[in-house]
Amino acid sequence: MAVTVRYLGHAAFALEAEGKQVVVDPFLTGNPLAAAKPEDLAPVAILLTHAHADHVGDSVAISKRTGAPVIATFELGTYLAQQGAETIAANHGGTVRFDGGSVKFVPAWHTSSYGEQFLAPGVPAGLVVRFGGKTIYFAGDTCLFGDMALIGEEGLDLAVLPIGDHFTMGPADAVKAVKLLKPSIVIPCHYNTFPPIQQDPQAFKREVEAATSARCVVLQPGEQYTLE
Ligand code: NI
Ligand code: MN
Repeated sequence: MAVTVRYLGHAAFALEAEGKQVVVDPFLTGNPLAAAKPEDLAPVAILLTHAHADHVGDSVAISKRTGAPVIATFELGTYLAQQGAETIAANHGGTVRFDGGSVKFVPAWHTSSYGEQFLAPGVPAGLVVRFGGKTIYFAGDTCLFGDMALIGEEGLDLAVLPIGDHFTMGPADAVKAVKLLKPSIVIPCHYNTFPPIQQDPQAFKREVEAATSARCVVLQPGEQYTLE
């Protein structure tokens, strides 16, 4: 089986396999790099790493329109249910099944807050997604941490890693993350959206491919890559 991974800008992705779509962190409205409109998406599930606005994005509107569940950690999922979204609230270590696949919540080192009051619904997560016969890790916003080696034991076809620095790990730590995760393919994200996170993804690609056996695929917003 194959899964197509489409970069929608910043940390937003759409996965497509066997006619089904899953979206991750669909921050589109207000995203300077957005490569889709919320109404273009018709997912069977919406997966969230954490509560920050550049990740929750249009989740509630997409869920209300399509009925797709937002799958998130417990407090965030419960909070978004109060906003009218369909949700499935889980937590670290747990695996949630959706139509055509599953997502397991794993740790991420970051913060997680929402809205002008900086409500803090829960803690951030990484996502190990099984879909279209592939295993894909979305690190979410995180720094480097040693337990990425355990996540690597999941057998990753693809790792999607932030490289922006400032709010997450930067390129040098992301190369170290690749060494721990041992994915076949790496796709960088969470860079060049805003001034503090300007990076050269081609320099990151060169570093990854010089230091590890992984292949790095740099996607422009709107581009896609198919994992065969
Ligand atoms: Ni964040
Ligand atoms: Mn972020």
